[in-house]
Amino acid sequence: MQKELKIGLFGFGCVGGGLYKVLQQTPGFKADILKICVKDRQKKRPVDIKVFTFEKDEILANPEINLVVELIDDPDEAFEIVKTAMQRGKAVVSANKKMIAEHLEELHALQQAYKVPFLYEASVCGSIPVIRNLEEYYDNDLLSSIEGICNGTTNYILTRTVEDNKTYEEVLADAQSLGFAESDPTLDVEGFDAKFKLVILIAHTFGLFIEPEKVFHLGISKLGEADVAFAREKGFKIKLIAKAYKDQGRVHGWVLPAFVPSKDPFFNVENEYNAVKIGAAFTDSQLFVGKGAGSFPTASAVLSDISALSYGYKYEYKKASQNGNAPFSDEVTLSAYIRFSKEADLEGLELLEVEVAHKEKGYGYKIVKLRLDALLAFQPQNKDIFLALL
Ligand code: HSE
Repeated sequence: MQKELKIGLFGFGCVGGGLYKVLQQTPGFKADILKICVKDRQKKRPVDIKVFTFEKDEILANPEINLVVELIDDPDEAFEIVKTAMQRGKAVVSANKKMIAEHLEELHALQQAYKVPFLYEASVCGSIPVIRNLEEYYDNDLLSSIEGICNGTTNYILTRTVEDNKTYEEVLADAQSLGFAESDPTLDVEGFDAKFKLVILIAHTFGLFIEPEKVFHLGISKLGEADVAFAREKGFKIKLIAKAYKDQGRVHGWVLPAFVPSKDPFFNVENEYNAVKIGAAFTDSQLFVGKGAGSFPTASAVLSDISALSYGYKYEYKKASQNGNAPFSDEVTLSAYIRFSKEADLEGLELLEVEVAHKEKGYGYKIVKLRLDALLAFQPQNKDIFLALL
């Protein structure tokens, strides 16, 4: 039976505002927003003022509200809201990937302790229904890998800087005004956001709860003209890829830029679109593509969670009980391109093999084999180099 949902919404920004409009345009949908809690008392909003509150408890202590939709920016505050709502027996929907990735194990425990559903499809790859597919469709399959373009902002930057001849800064400003970027865009361009999403995907793919700090990430902020020229010359595109796979009982994973050849399905995934490729024993490889950022695509995933809740849906995390003991490991060898201004910038990076060493005026690059744990020890994000998998 369909449950009547009475919603308390936290946040009325890009996604919250989008959800409000999407709900208005979905006639017959059985969910009413009773209260919207916001911070800024001065901001003009295109909705009846009476629905707004500035006090959390007008939602959290309201017995009529049975669903809290959390769409605020601050991850610490979001966690407190989500936790309190669950402790008070309310179902919760959230899109806050940083908060979820940082507290996933505890959030899992809270769902079990208080027997309340917590859904977060919108936190990973916007409109692509990946979490529910991992939970339901791939429930019995043997999953071997999950790989994706999981950040719309960086994909937008990587597409538009190459195609429009605009600078990195100009395109980032466009991504911000289109509502793709985080309020702190460092989270996008340095690869944190993709990593939070990967951590969530790893939990639903391999049943592993890992702390985000354990996963190596590198973003695209050091991308330069020489790297774009290298990609053009070889017929590649550059994409920020989040990847995890299982090999001999161990799970490996990272977020790194990669040169992608034209035969790779990620090659044509452009702008704010995301893509997820799932590798499984009996289905081989399957690809999901869709808008990964922006007000309406993200709001549509939130709406889908609300709808699923009205039918009593919850995540079961079956893989966590099936194979939660596989260790996460950085002991893996990668092939990479590393571009530097001064060769001294590579000092301290342990390389297994140098296949190509190229020098130009003002810069050089190497194509190498190296281990992920060596990269982790080297901390390339603090060096003046651009690194991408080949
Ligand atoms: N900043 C995120 C992105 C928003 O660009 O993908 C969607 O999670």
